Amino acid sequence: MRKQTEDAASAPSAAPRHIGVIMDGNGRWAAARGLPRLEGHRRGVEALRRTVRAAGELGVSYLTVYSFSSENWRRPAQEISDLMGLLKRFIRNDLAELHGNGVRVRIIGSRDDLTTDIQSLLKEAEELTCNNTNMTLIVAFNYGARHEIAAAARRLAEDALAGRIDPARIDEQSLGARLDTAGVPDPDLIIRTSGEQRLSNFLLWQAAYAEFVFLPIHWPEFDRSALEGAIEEFARRQRRFGGVAPVSAPAPNAMTGS
Ligand code: FPP
Repeated sequence: MRKQTEDAASAPSAAPRHIGVIMDGNGRWAAARGLPRLEGHRRGVEALRRTVRAAGELGVSYLTVYSFSSENWRRPAQEISDLMGLLKRFIRNDLAELHGNGVRVRIIGSRDDLTTDIQSLLKEAEELTCNNTNMTLIVAFNYGARHEIAAAARRLAEDALAGRIDPARIDEQSLGARLDTAGVPDPDLIIRTSGEQRLSNFLLWQAAYAEFVFLPIHWPEFDRSALEGAIEEFARRQRRFGGVAPVSAPAPNAMTGS
C-alpha cells in the first residue's frame, strides 16, 4: 500500500470515512467457471487484499468486511473448515504488510466458538497493530448484528443491576458504547456485491444512516475501480440524517456515541 499522503491529491474529496463491505458471490463466481467453491473464496481473499490497499490509498479511515457470519455455520463442514483456513492464512501472510502500512486490525463477532489457534491469531493481529493510525480494518468474523445488539443489552442490564448505570439514563450512546464497534464511527457507505440487496444481519444498528451501493459483480471481481465507482456514487447522494438540508458529513459518532 502506498502512503495515504502520496495519494491525497487523487483521493475523491468525498471519500467516506467508514465503508462496510458485504463480500458476496464467491460461490457463484466459482460455479460459473466450473470451479470448486473454495477457489471462489481464495479469489475472494485476493479481492480483499486489493480492497484494503485501495481503501487506504483513497483515504478511507475505517473498512469493515463481513468475512463469516454467525449464520455461516449452516454451511457444509468442509466449507467452514476452508473459510477458517483462509482466515488463518490471511492473518499469517498479510499481518506484517498491514502493520507496515500502519493498518490497525480489529475483529468484531463472537470468539467463543472459534478454535484456540484462531483466537490467538486474532489477538495477535489486534495487539500488534493497536497503535496504528493510517486505517482501521475491521474483520467481522463469526459476526451477527442481532447477537451483538442482544449482548450489548445484556451488558446494560448487568450494569444496571450492579448500580453502574441508572436505567432511566440508558440511551443510544450507552448502548452504542457496548457494541463490538465501540469507538468506531458509523459506516457512511455499505457496499454489497453479487446483486443481492439485503443487509444479512450486518451492522444493523450502525447502518441507520448509511448509504447503500449494490453491485452486480461477484466479490472475486471487485477491485480498485469498483471501489472508486461506489465512492463516486456515494458522493452523488444527498445525506440529510433526518433533516431537510443535505449534510456533507455526520458529526463524529453522532448516532451511537461510539
Ligand atoms: C460470500 O460468498 C462470502 C463469504 C461467506 C465469505 C467471505 C469470505 C471471503 C471473501 C474470503 C475469506 C476471507 C477471510 C478473511 C476469511 P458466498 O459463498 O456466499 O457466495 P455465493 O452466495 O455465491 O454462494
